[in-house]
This record gives sequence, C-alpha cells and structure tokens, in this order.
Amino acid sequence: MTSLFEVVSEEASADTPIRRLTVTVNGNQHTLDVEPRLLLAHLVRQALGLTGTHVGCDTTNCGACTVLFDGSPVKSCTMFAVQADGHEVTTVEGLASASELDPIQEGFKDEHGLQCGFCTPGMMLSAKALLNENPDPTEDEIRWALSGNLCRCTGYQNIVKAVLRAAAGLRNQEDAGEDETS
Ligand code: FES
Ligand code: FES
Repeated sequence: MTSLFEVVSEEASADTPIRRLTVTVNGNQHTLDVEPRLLLAHLVRQALGLTGTHVGCDTTNCGACTVLFDGSPVKSCTMFAVQADGHEVTTVEGLASASELDPIQEGFKDEHGLQCGFCTPGMMLSAKALLNENPDPTEDEIRWALSGNLCRCTGYQNIVKAVLRAAAGLRNQEDAGEDETS
C-alpha cells in the first residue's frame, strides 16, 4: 500500500525545504512530503497515526519512542524522518497479527510486565530485537538489552520475567514448527 501524506508545520513558509521520502512501516509503504526537521517519532505518530510509539523525554533518555529500524532498536526521537527514506520501520502496532499477539506481548501480559504501560511499547520492541538475535538470553543479557528503556512503575523485575517467558514461548513455537515439518 502506498499513501501520500504531507507533514508540514504551521510555521513552514514558502522557503521551507520539503523532502519526499518513502518508508515501509509495519509492512505498508508510505510516501510522505516532510520538513527535513521532522523527527521519526513524530512521523509515525502524527502522519501515520501510530500512537503506540510514545514520546516521553524527546532527549534520547527514556526509550519510550523505541521502534525497530531495519530490525534494530532505535530511539525514534533521535532520528529525522528523512533518514528513514528507503528503510523499514516496525512499531508496536506491527507486533501482533490480525488473530494473535506476538509472544513478546503474551509474555508482558502473562507476567504483568507493565503498570501504566507508557514504557511498554519501547520495552517490547527492544526485547523483540534481543530475541531475534539471541533466542535464549540470560537475565543479565535481558537487563543489558533493556538498559536504554526506563520504567518508572514496575521495578523491572516483571519486565525481565516477561522477556524470559516470551523467549521460552518463541522457542516452543519453533520446536512445534520443526515437529510439524519433520
Ligand atoms: S522520547 Fe525518545 S528517548 Fe525518550
Ligand atoms: S509501566 Fe509505567 S513507565 Fe513502565
């Protein structure tokens, strides 16, 4: 799917340069005309309506704005939207399929890995990137992978348990898939 959006602020004048970019977000391709100063976080929230990407600090500290950029976690408040031209972005809305939650989401649900939920989308995407690289992480490896994501509510313990549970769920899924094909 290709859609054309224009994301130009009220302060923009006739002299404001506008750049066209094409980015794939959660599998859908979008073409947008944007001001070069637009941040990736604001592109996904304002232009695409994907408000699961939260903006907590706008200064690279909290990790609430984390998305996957070509599979790697990035803080989307630290990138300009134009840097995403030609790349793939996954937001929290891209985790679940139409019929089921991602094992990461199941893990957070089952282990009560959230309270207010503000940090949760970023936590889940950082965890997703970790488990894509390392399907059987230790608790220390999980804590390290999530060290750029701050949570003011949970004390982190249940978040770590959620990621351990998600890792086990993913390994079980893979084992079941292998059994079916053998
Ligand atoms: S909003 Fe991006 S790191 Fe806090
Ligand atoms: S659940 Fe509230 S900030 Fe993490």
